[in-house]
Amino acid sequence: MKIQKITCIGAGYVGGPTMAVIADRCPHIQVTVVDANAERIEAWNTDHLPVYEPGLDAVVKRARGRNLHFSTNIDEAIASADCIFISVNTPTKTEGEGAGKACDLRFIESCSRQIARAAENHTIIVEKSTLPVRTAEKILEVLATAGREKSFDVLSNPEFLAEGTAVKDLENPDRVLIGGQNEAAIQALVEVYLNWVPKERILTTNVWSAEMSKLAANAFLAQRVSSINSLSAFCEATGADVDEVARAVGMDTRIGSKFLKAGLGFGGSCFKKDVLNLVYLCEHYGLPEVATYWQQVLEMNEWQKKRVAQKVIQNLGGTVQGKRIAVLGFAFKKDTNDTREAPAIALCEHLLAAGANVVVHDPKVSFVKIQADLKHSPFMAKNLHSAESAEQACQGASAAVLATEWDSFRHLDWKAMATKMSAGAWIFDARNCTDHRSLKATGLKLWAVGK
Ligand code: NAD
Ligand code: UGA
Repeated sequence: MKIQKITCIGAGYVGGPTMAVIADRCPHIQVTVVDANAERIEAWNTDHLPVYEPGLDAVVKRARGRNLHFSTNIDEAIASADCIFISVNTPTKTEGEGAGKACDLRFIESCSRQIARAAENHTIIVEKSTLPVRTAEKILEVLATAGREKSFDVLSNPEFLAEGTAVKDLENPDRVLIGGQNEAAIQALVEVYLNWVPKERILTTNVWSAEMSKLAANAFLAQRVSSINSLSAFCEATGADVDEVARAVGMDTRIGSKFLKAGLGFGGSCFKKDVLNLVYLCEHYGLPEVATYWQQVLEMNEWQKKRVAQKVIQNLGGTVQGKRIAVLGFAFKKDTNDTREAPAIALCEHLLAAGANVVVHDPKVSFVKIQADLKHSPFMAKNLHSAESAEQACQGASAAVLATEWDSFRHLDWKAMATKMSAGAWIFDARNCTDHRSLKATGLKLWAVGK
């Protein structure tokens, strides 16, 4: 088995960048990315890629048209591939059994059906999406409906990239994980990654371990964020400084320094849905104590988002009715235009519900997107506004909340800002991403998470 033609179903935040890097690093492999969303495919074929990631434009430019193609002809791309990555979305179910927790596998199932129909000869199917343990079994069941002249191997190759650093993570991964049953199929995929990933970083396991490891990794990461956020409240109550605590704790090499940044709570499309999925699976397998343990990671995250919004209101004299509040940053983290589960959404909803005039500025998120994310707020139309810059958002504001740690916010001229804001204005640094000493020197009042 040798992989020469790859098709990826799903041209989203994972499918697009992952395939761009494979094509860039493997010029001898033809890579086609397909999607049911024609608009998205069209954008991948222009200079305005649908996903913002530092460094991605250059990678796409090098490979597109040479051995990287974006297309809506899904059947044709399936038929011609010897390896198909499934990289479609796997959201939380909104109805039926397990609604609100379990993973919705409808897109995985429809892809599998289409592959069964359109594939030719032997094809390696790679689960790139994050999936519940034992999904490979379900995919194989669907593929078994294909004619006898077709055959398949299913591998699990979960993706560990983080948004904002996707290209870096893909080009230099901590590890690549490949789970499978058939040694030859595993080896064929290993050969693809060996084009740029050192051998010792490619792990091979059984399928279930690979599927499980992805959920476990996200659960551990989310748990660290919730742990430090829980201690941020404790620091505020006791006079300890959460960044100093994180530094002291993280210098223990057994603990490590990463993922100990207190903030507004974790966002992004995956942590919440994957931990919910883990909770659901634990309940399903009769492990309620394990389910409760992981559920608490999510509860803490919800509490942190609410807690910060309440701090804003309390510090502004218990009411924000009619007050202008600047929200600086809307993306769920810096260096991405993704707002899925962004903690700024909960913050804005809370402030709008309390009667504030909310003015949002984000360097990469459009106002149309912000409005769409807040469409459930009954106060959105009247009291939500956008600003072209942080300075404009803060003009005449009673407060500014730093909700995303964009680098451009690190160097804001607080002295100039203080002259534009209302007298006695507050800055709420929910990401500890500004210079607190110079900010305080301007006379602005400061609340910072965990300080
Ligand atoms: P996404 O929503 O950005 O992209 C998924 C794409 O799949 C969409 O464009 C959608 O139109 C397409 N699609 C769905 N069903 C289809 C079908 N039947 N045929 C053709 N196209 C179809 O999602 P994403 O963020 O790229 O995530 C994809 C998977 O990767 C998820 O399982 C996620 O948990 C996992 N993951 C995401 C990240 C991340 O940083 N976003 C990181 C690691 C893993
Ligand atoms: C996360 C994981 O880091 C990836 O390994 C994984 O592949 C991906 O989920 C996925 O499966 O989708 P991502 O959500 O893109 O990646 O970004 P992270 O850097 O993990 O940040 C997640 C959230 O946690 C952000 O809102 C971030 O601000 C917050 N966070 C992170 C903190 O508040 N503190 C930290 O110390 C780290």
